[in-house]
Amino acid sequence: MRERLRIALTKGRLQDRSVELFEGMGLDCTPIREPGRRLIHQIPNYPLDAVLAKAPDVITYVEHGACDLGIVGKDTILEHGHAFYEVLDLGFGACRFALAVKEGFDFYGGYQTRRVASKYPGVTRAFFEKKGMDVSVIKIEGSVELAPLLDLADGIVDIVETGATLKANGLVPIETVAQVSARLIVNTASMKLYKEQITDFMEKCQRELERGL
Ligand code: PRP
Repeated sequence: MRERLRIALTKGRLQDRSVELFEGMGLDCTPIREPGRRLIHQIPNYPLDAVLAKAPDVITYVEHGACDLGIVGKDTILEHGHAFYEVLDLGFGACRFALAVKEGFDFYGGYQTRRVASKYPGVTRAFFEKKGMDVSVIKIEGSVELAPLLDLADGIVDIVETGATLKANGLVPIETVAQVSARLIVNTASMKLYKEQITDFMEKCQRELERGL
């Protein structure tokens, strides 16, 4: 048994919003805001330690119980699996997965097997399997918008937030694959072991989310 809960926060876009949420809950986040070289940040006025990690690592830490809680995007959850409880939709980080193509391209026309590039091959495969459509999925690590421009792919499945990146590259979204936002996830064993502490944390979280609505 640990005295303090551990939470893994996704670095980058979701990090600032997570800290804002915690501060709204009354948690002193100075150690996260001024991290220095430290990797584990102790919240001074609440029994919680926070670590910052890349999105797929947040899931790994929580699945293995190295962290009791995590904040991660639904996009990563859809791609990497579900061996934990997804307990709250935090609302922020809202965007969508979309299928996008070069403007004017008839993706569903013709008989050739379509090639689709994505950082999320699992989500992409599941989407087309559900449609009963055979596509060839190409895994790309970043700036997926390049793939149709270089004729590596006929379309992409990617996160669209403002739509600015698609527009700047002459691509248009033709279908929504899934809605995405940040989620609070909990390790299944921790939920039993630290029920009271986790319930307290979740209630504070929920109150703050309701206040912000
Ligand atoms: C994401 C996504 C798009 C862009 C969408 O990329 O993959 O490229 O943001 O945002 P928009 O609709 O507001 O333009 P990210 O910035 O995470 O970089 P990456 O492609 O290098 O992973």
